[in-house]
Amino acid sequence: MTLWHGRFSGGMDDAMAAYTVSLPFDRELAKEDLEGSRAHVQGLVRVGLLTSEEGESLLSALSTVDEELTSQVFVFDPSDEDIHTAVERRVTELAGPTGAKLHTGRSRNDQVATDLRLWTKRNLSLVVVDVLEFCQILQERATAAGETYLPGYTHVQRAQPVLLAHHFYAHGWSLLRDVDRLHDCLKRLDVSPLGAGALAGSSLPLDPDYTASLLGFAARFENSMDAVSDRDFVAEALFVLAMIGIHLSRMGEELVLWSSEEFGFCTLDDGFASGSSMLPQKKNADAAELARGKTGRLVGNLTGLLVTLKGLPLSYNRDLQEDKEPLFDSVNQVRLGLRAMGGAYATLQIHDAVMQRAADGGAIAAIDLAEYLVVHGTPFREAHAIVADLVRRSIDDHSELSELVNLSEHFGEDAAALLLPGVAVTRRTTPGGAGPKPVAEQAVRFAEALQAAQRPR
Ligand code: ARG
Repeated sequence: MTLWHGRFSGGMDDAMAAYTVSLPFDRELAKEDLEGSRAHVQGLVRVGLLTSEEGESLLSALSTVDEELTSQVFVFDPSDEDIHTAVERRVTELAGPTGAKLHTGRSRNDQVATDLRLWTKRNLSLVVVDVLEFCQILQERATAAGETYLPGYTHVQRAQPVLLAHHFYAHGWSLLRDVDRLHDCLKRLDVSPLGAGALAGSSLPLDPDYTASLLGFAARFENSMDAVSDRDFVAEALFVLAMIGIHLSRMGEELVLWSSEEFGFCTLDDGFASGSSMLPQKKNADAAELARGKTGRLVGNLTGLLVTLKGLPLSYNRDLQEDKEPLFDSVNQVRLGLRAMGGAYATLQIHDAVMQRAADGGAIAAIDLAEYLVVHGTPFREAHAIVADLVRRSIDDHSELSELVNLSEHFGEDAAALLLPGVAVTRRTTPGGAGPKPVAEQAVRFAEALQAAQRPR
């Protein structure tokens, strides 16, 4: 029997039930639903809509339901459309006629919005912890990298040498921005919809401020129609989760490249690689590839919800039931991804010599030659042309760039030394740059930013 059967003379068709049921996934909200119901009962007692005995009896039934759910002995009924229905049905079985008063002044519309906000608050806070742990791993890797350098790439072409620490911190800063975004999202979703009813509030003397504070929300809703129909917080959460996924995906792509035989920059720990069922020699970067692959689904979850929300008239519409599966999935996948990729990074074996060799040869320090000329008074555009000409000749004639520099009328005897192994990276001295001096400063700033991000907000 449904909660709303009174209005109907016939029962629900099986096909309709199978299509509309949400219990298989909204069971995830059981804890939050009980929490919301407890606050609602306390609110009803406070304003005199329930006697304190009635309140006690409902709270005790809710505790029993909690225990039954936790110990997995709760028996769901085929008529349970969703977790809210299931809890109310069981409370009524346990508390007798008083159970019929649980839903006083409440609708599933404000109830589900309350549950989902509580769930999102709790779970995004867990994602914050996971992202911060990843940042810490990157910080440790950066510290351990010391003065090791590698080619920095643009267009996947060797561009300029950079410290490996600089490279790790680059990923660290992007994840710290994600932490900021998570907090921003958490701040905006911290509003209780409980008391909005179906859409218009109530004729009963409810106290939404009281239930909001019981539930630990920073505020109650300002507008009951907005309260039951707003899912901006889900869209925002899905965006932030997709952004984290995109960051992991970019790191994943890099690990795939770096661990390939072509690059040979690193070896994945056995615990974070997998083999081939056919080719005995293979060691594949599957976690990194899935960090890349699963991001498609994170973006899909965001896109799907945005399309669901687009064009929905106020206020609650059943379409909104489609908010939960993408949210649960994105939170779960991002948390799993952060742990797997965090582990891969923490255990990564770096091949310093290979990285440095790749960053030493050829014309990777060509800009240093051009800047040498600039310092000696040549306008940059001219300096660029002079060096580009030498680079082209060294390629065409298979000659060493340093020899051509020594022979060139434009350069003094000291210029060719700029091309010696390991020199160019030390010359990146500007704030935020890739050389030892600014990276040492950056390390201090990153440690401060990470510490600030770890402080509870
Ligand atoms: N399962 C529903 C959802 O997730 C609960 C709210 C149902 N409200 C209603 N008016 N049918 O949105």
